[in-house]
Amino acid sequence: MSCSIELNSVSQSFENNASTITLFENLDLSINQGQSYAITGPSGAGKSSLLMLLSGLEKPSSGQANFISDNQISTLDNLRSEIGFIFQQFHLLPELTALHNIALPLKLRGDKHANKKAEHWLEKVGLSDRSNHKPSQLSGGEQQRVAIARALVFSPKFIFADEPTGNLDQYNANEISDILFACCQENNAGLIIVTHNNALASMAQNIYSLADGKLTKASSINSVEKKQTKQGSNHVAQDFAINDGQVA
Ligand SMILES: Nc1ncnc2c1ncn2[C@@H]1O[C@H](COP(=O)(O)OP(=O)(O)OP(=O)(O)O)[C@@H](O)[C@H]1O
Ligand SMILES: [Mg+2]
Repeated sequence: MSCSIELNSVSQSFENNASTITLFENLDLSINQGQSYAITGPSGAGKSSLLMLLSGLEKPSSGQANFISDNQISTLDNLRSEIGFIFQQFHLLPELTALHNIALPLKLRGDKHANKKAEHWLEKVGLSDRSNHKPSQLSGGEQQRVAIARALVFSPKFIFADEPTGNLDQYNANEISDILFACCQENNAGLIIVTHNNALASMAQNIYSLADGKLTKASSINSVEKKQTKQGSNHVAQDFAINDGQVA
């Protein structure tokens, strides 16, 4: 039985002091289980906010945000236990080790094999040797891997990922992208990724661009790229590289 998330004529705005920030108005989007989606767009366009709405973690200012399963319509609150969320800022629990952060969603579900499964996921994301380290003892990229494992460990129906490769080098970004897509395929989960990484976006079956309050479906990542201004493109001068403790 397949299910979907439907946004109908959704608007989101925030009141800041005397002014109102409107991110988007009358936005429609349908997300199906088993499909993959990438949302791209400039910084500040409202991508993270859209992800929060789709996952039911936040409510829209107006419009309908529903979960449809077996032709039954309900609010997205009913989806809470079925979603894995990879946050842009990780949100790992600082007091827990990498292993226990990953095991937590399983323990909350009463899974007796939580630690064993968490160990398996630590291995999958290449961090077996860091199982007893707390988040503060891990690099940004390592914390991101823990956050990814924590989101996937209980085989959720929908996986939301906000810049999942933002802190990783190209090699690790590719590896994590493959894990994300493979995991969704294995579990017939829906995957919704917000990303500035064009290689990652191009792996999705559906590509959207959010800019100037409008969500547009793109035929390919190339058509999104053409629309974007050159300003602020991901052009970072790399004067030196540090590999395995060596500065080159
Ligand atoms: N809870 C909030 N209250 C007030 N303003 C908010 C809130 N959440 C987001 N915003 C504002 O909405 C705008 C869009 O934020 P959002 O984080 O969704 O952008 P984004 O597209 O994800 O950007 P980035 O690519 O930099 O992560 C920003 O200007 C932000 O300050
Ligand atoms: Mg964001």
